[in-house]
Amino acid sequence: MLTYTTPPFMNQSDPTRKTRVTCAPGLAPYLKQELEQLGFECLSMDKTGIEIEATTTQSMMLNLRLRTAFHVLQRFADINCRNADELYSEAKRLPWDRVIDPSGFVSVTSNVRNETISNSMFPNLRLKDAICDKLVEQGGKRPDTGSSTDGMVVSMHWVDSKARIYLNMTGRKLSDRGYRKMPFMAPMRETIAAAVLMEMKYDGTRPLVVPMCGSGTIAIEAALIAKHRAPGLLRSNYACNHWLNADKDAWSQQRVEAKKLMVKNDPAPIVATDIEEEAIEATRKNAVTAGVDHLIEFHVCDFAQTPIPEEAGDVVLHGEYGVRLGDDEELIATYKRIGDFLKTDCSGWDGYVFTSGKPLIGAIRLKVSKRTPFINAEIDCRLLKYELYRGSKVTEA
Ligand SMILES: C[S@@+](CC[C@H](N)C(=O)[O-])C[C@H]1O[C@@H](n2cnc3c(N)ncnc32)[C@H](O)[C@@H]1O
Repeated sequence: MLTYTTPPFMNQSDPTRKTRVTCAPGLAPYLKQELEQLGFECLSMDKTGIEIEATTTQSMMLNLRLRTAFHVLQRFADINCRNADELYSEAKRLPWDRVIDPSGFVSVTSNVRNETISNSMFPNLRLKDAICDKLVEQGGKRPDTGSSTDGMVVSMHWVDSKARIYLNMTGRKLSDRGYRKMPFMAPMRETIAAAVLMEMKYDGTRPLVVPMCGSGTIAIEAALIAKHRAPGLLRSNYACNHWLNADKDAWSQQRVEAKKLMVKNDPAPIVATDIEEEAIEATRKNAVTAGVDHLIEFHVCDFAQTPIPEEAGDVVLHGEYGVRLGDDEELIATYKRIGDFLKTDCSGWDGYVFTSGKPLIGAIRLKVSKRTPFINAEIDCRLLKYELYRGSKVTEA
C-alpha cells in the first residue's frame, strides 16, 4: 500500500502535517522541552527524534529557532517495499513533479534496516532513480543529483518492509550554525553545547565562565541564548527553500518574526579562556561571525588563572579526556587541579565539568550533586554538577 500527503504549497491552505524533528542521541529530552515551550505536543519520542504535527510555516519557524535539533522532516509518503526493486516501483508512483523542481538539485539521504540491503548507498540510488525517472516521464528534465545537502533533500527511514519518505526542510544539520569557521581541538557540537546550557538552566542573568573554551562553542551558544537570538538566523540556506513552489514570503516572514525575539539587554559577563593562543583566536573569530564577540571577555591563560567575576554564577569546563585527547597520567593531574580551582576560586558558584571516564571524575575530589549523561562524538560523557558552597567538601578519590 502507498499513502502520501498532499504536496506542500499546492494551494493557499497550510494544513498541519506529521513532522519528525531529529536530534543527536541523548538530546531528545532537551528537544522535547524546546518544542513544548514553542507550543507543540510531542506525539512520540525516541532516541533520535520527536514526532509532532506542524504546518509548513511552523516548521520553517522550528528550523530557525530550535537549538538542539538536527533536521525538521515533513512526512510525505509511506511505502510498503520488501526490497530495492519494490522501493523503486512504489516510489515512482509518488507525485514528485509537484514538489521537485526538475531544473534544480536533489539529494537523497536514508537510514535503512532491511535484510536485502547490504550497501547503504544502494537505497539512495534507487530512490533517486525513481524520482528522476518519474520526472523525465512526465516531460520534465532530469534534475541534477549528488550527495550535497545544499539543495532539495529527500530523506527516507526504511525498516524491514516499511519505508517512510520525508521532505527534509533543513538540508545541512541545524548544528552546522555557520559560525564555527575555525574549529580548534575536539570541539563540542553546537547542539550539545546548547543542551548543556539548558541543563545548567543558563539564561544570561548570572555570570558564565568557560575556562578551556577551545573554539568557543559553549560561550557562543550561551551568548545566543542570553540574547534570545534564533540560531537558525546565522545561516541562509535551507532545503525547504529549494522545493518547487517554495513559499519565499512565508520564509521571509518567519525570519522577521525570529529577529523580533532578540532582547536589547546584554547578559551578565561571559568569560572565555584557554591556554592556547590559537584557541582564543578561534573563539574570537567564531564569536565575530556569530555576532556576539562584544558579549564575551577573552583571555589566554591556564584555566586556574581565569578571572572570576565578583557576582556568583556558573563555571563550566570541557577539558580533554583520555579517549579523545591527551595522556591519562597528565590528565589526572589536570583534573586534580580542576577540583582545586573549583573549590578555592569558585566558591559560592555552581561548577560543571563535562567529561568522560571514572578516573578523571574521581580526580576532581569534590562531591557531585548531579550527573547528566551526554554522548559527544560517540563517547559516553557526563555533565557533573558541583554546588560550590563556601568550604566545599573534598571527597576521597
Ligand atoms: C576539548 S577542548 C574544548 C572544546 C570546546 N568546548 C569547544 O567546543 O571548542 C579542551 C581545551 O582545553 C584547553 N586546555 C588544555 N589544558 C588547559 C589548561 N591547563 N588551561 C587552559 N586550557 C587548557 C585546550 O587548549 C583545548 O582548547
